[in-house]
This record gives sequence, C-alpha cells and structure tokens, in this order.
Amino acid sequence: MRVLASAPAKIILFGEHSVVYGKPAIAAAIDLRTYVWAEFNDRGAIKIEAKDIRVPGLTVSFSEDEIYFESDYGKAAEVLSYVRQAIELVREEADANGKGVTVSITSQIPVGAGLGSSAAVAVATIGAVSKLLGLELTNEEIGKLGHKVELLVQGASSGIDPTVSAIGGFIHYEKGNFEHLPFMELPIVVGYTGSSGSTKELVAMVRGTYEEMPEVIEPVLVAMGKIVEKARGVIISDLDEELRFAQLGRLMNINHGLLDALGVSTKKLSELVYAARVAGAIGAKITGAGGGGCMYALAPENQSEVATAITIAGGTPMITRISREGLRIEEVLP
Ligand code: MEV
Repeated sequence: MRVLASAPAKIILFGEHSVVYGKPAIAAAIDLRTYVWAEFNDRGAIKIEAKDIRVPGLTVSFSEDEIYFESDYGKAAEVLSYVRQAIELVREEADANGKGVTVSITSQIPVGAGLGSSAAVAVATIGAVSKLLGLELTNEEIGKLGHKVELLVQGASSGIDPTVSAIGGFIHYEKGNFEHLPFMELPIVVGYTGSSGSTKELVAMVRGTYEEMPEVIEPVLVAMGKIVEKARGVIISDLDEELRFAQLGRLMNINHGLLDALGVSTKKLSELVYAARVAGAIGAKITGAGGGGCMYALAPENQSEVATAITIAGGTPMITRISREGLRIEEVLP
C-alpha cells in the first residue's frame, strides 16, 4: 500500500512570538504544499527520501541504531528531524513500533523561510503514515500531533503552524484552540530574504530577553495580543473593504515595529518591509519567526509594483493565495 498526503505552508498575519506566551495570533494557510508518500519497507527502518525540499538530492535513512546520510545539507537535515519524530509518534499511536516505513518528500516550500515548512512536512507525514497504519485521525488531531512533534524537536512551540497547516483557511489561534475566521482574499505579496532563520533559536532568544527584563518585554507581548484582537475585530466587521485593509495595514506596521523591538528583524527584512511600503503597500511586516525568512505586504492596489520593489531590494517576491484546504490525502494505492 502507498499513501500520498499533502499539507500547505502558512503565513502568520499577526502575533508571531507573542503566541508562544499564550497570546492570540492570526494565521492563514497558503497555496504552497509539501507532498509526502508513505509505504512499508521490510527492513524495520524509518527511511526518508527528500527528493526536493528545496535542497535537491538528499537521502537520509535511520534505523534502530544507525543514521546514515547518503548526502547531507545542513538545513534539510534539520527538517528531517521533524519527519523522523512524526513517524515515530504515529508508530507509537498505532502500536506499530519497529514497523518499517519509508517516506518520500517533495516540497514547494522553501526551508527556514518562516512559511511553516517544518510544520507542513510534519503534518503531511503524520497524515500519510497514519493512513498507512490504519489510524483514523481527524485533521484537528493531526494538527495536535504536529504540535507534539514541534515541542519534541524545538523545545518550545505555540502549535499555530501545525494547526493551520492541518486545518487550512484563515484562523484565530489561542492556547491550542482555534476559530475559523470568515474567508477573505488578501491581496498580499510575500518577500523572501533568501536567508533562513532557526525558529528554535529565535524563540529561545526572545525567551532569554523576556527572562532578563520581563517588565520591559511583557508589555510588548501584551500590545501584540491587543493588535491581534483589534485585527480580528476588523476582519469580522462589516466595514467596507478599503477601510478594512487600511486598518489591517496600520496594525501590520505596528506589529512589525514590536517584532523589531524583540530583536527578530534583520537589516534585509527591514529593507524589504520599507521597500514595499515606499512602493505603496498599506502595511508590511515580518511573517514567522524572523531572523531572515520572509516578510509580507498588503497591497490591494499595486501587488505587482510591490513585488518589483521587493526584487529591486534584493528579495524574492511570491504572490500567493490563501488555501482553504489543509491536510489532504491525495492518493491511496493498493
Ligand atoms: C513561527 O512560525 C511562529 C513562532 O511564534 C513560533 C511558534 O508559534 O511556535 C515564532
């Protein structure tokens, strides 16, 4: 039997980092996907073939006491720890420890770009392997297992990335609970800096500053939570579209300033944010953990001018759409 599952990337619209401290956040699935094939092998090993996780040609195998990299590219290896953990967790859930499972991954999501590549690969792996092992899990349950994987690999995680990747659409998330927000087409442009940040290290860095000066950082996190609640109010309001976008844009700019205050912006991220604003975006901010990775801009009137400005500033623009669908079982072959 072979199973193919896919799961989408995400952008965090508001509330990254503060969400780790129990504050709310808003995120959306986007139309870039990771695909995972799962099948049994008779070696009793976990075998992972990553044909294209934007680092081509990598094959890594793990078995009981061996890990062998047929070729190794640092960043991709980090993603593979999510895959391995996801397989181990599903085997445990299914009482199938020791069962040989081979997964084969292809992905459209750049690794470490803040677009949830690790969560998408974990969710797609859990989806494919659980189907292979005969477990009936809902997408919500798969999102929760994805959160467990992140906690095991990263140490700290709010769970927002695997949740939105598993269930899709547009969500408001707080302390493990989510609410679907009304679907809206957002005229956004994502700008990729070309360099990647480590979510684990950035979350730990913010934690360090928080512990050193909680009286300074706590009000920043509280303000971020208030931005999210204000944005949620705007999204569900019946204001006309122009006013709604104008308010969301202002909130994005404030949220960016606060993320910068936490130290997760970089020169390149700020350059892309300012280039987008100068080209007419009504709001622009980091999306995801920062330290490289991506920003996004809201540009109802001028997406292509903003995309050009991002290119001129040295970034890679992506005009993406919100994906209504989360985890999908694409194919089950006998
Ligand atoms: C990463 O996409 C978002 C962070 O808030 C981490 C998390 O929520 O687990 C930085």
